[in-house]
Amino acid sequence: DEPRALPRDLEGLRVVVSAGGTREPLDPVRYLGNRSSGKQGFALARVAAQRGADVTLIAAHTVDLPSPAGAKVERVSSAEELRKAVQAAAVDADVVVMAAAVADFRPASRATSKIKKSDDQPDPVITLDRNADILAELVQDRRAGQVIVGFAAETGDEHGSVLDHARAKLRRKGADLLVVNAVGDGKAFGTEDNSGWLLAADGTEQAIPLGAKARLAATLWDAVTGLRQRRLQ
Ligand code: CTP
Ligand code: CA
Repeated sequence: DEPRALPRDLEGLRVVVSAGGTREPLDPVRYLGNRSSGKQGFALARVAAQRGADVTLIAAHTVDLPSPAGAKVERVSSAEELRKAVQAAAVDADVVVMAAAVADFRPASRATSKIKKSDDQPDPVITLDRNADILAELVQDRRAGQVIVGFAAETGDEHGSVLDHARAKLRRKGADLLVVNAVGDGKAFGTEDNSGWLLAADGTEQAIPLGAKARLAATLWDAVTGLRQRRLQ
């Protein structure tokens, strides 16, 4: 069906969205990566641009997706490249949304030539170093009034439910909003639909019913404008 005309309620808002999965090189031909499709981040950028925002999309690796109309797209690969691009774009942004799946670790060393197998050498062991937490750094260097949004894909475990983990993550990260997707059993990764919760730093929690990623994007932009309006009052 025909999409309805969207309100131009984000006119003048400068937003940065990161999307997709980073790749951490092992050697010239191999990398450690993840299953992020980038679809949710691209939907966020597309909907924001449709609503009039000035959008910069920092895109790591994604499935084949059309560039969101009206957004400025910058391509990156590793977590460190994503970090530099997001930091540079965040300097004059009103809103930063970290929808990218950023590798927590990278191989401690990157071989300059292809790693070979050998019958007289032991098999290699990959040592990992921790990557910087881009979201936590954004919160630390936050410019006045900037809204910072994180995403979390969680599973429940013996330490708590999806929501328990998400509430703790929101507190730990210090973001204003956290979108939580329950993952596992084929949920979220690469699919067209998403569901979850939207948690705000003020303690409000909103369930996001299963729906198109553009629908979740609209819900998030509504929450961001609501937050900004409350701050102005
Ligand atoms: N994130 C980031 N930099 C990293 C890792 C994550 O900016 N090095 C951001 C993600 O883009 C996301 C949020 O932090 O918006 C939460 O990511 P997640 O992987 O769920 O959180 P972690 O703190 O890495 O915790 P976990 O150990 O559960 O992976
Ligand atoms: Ca992580």
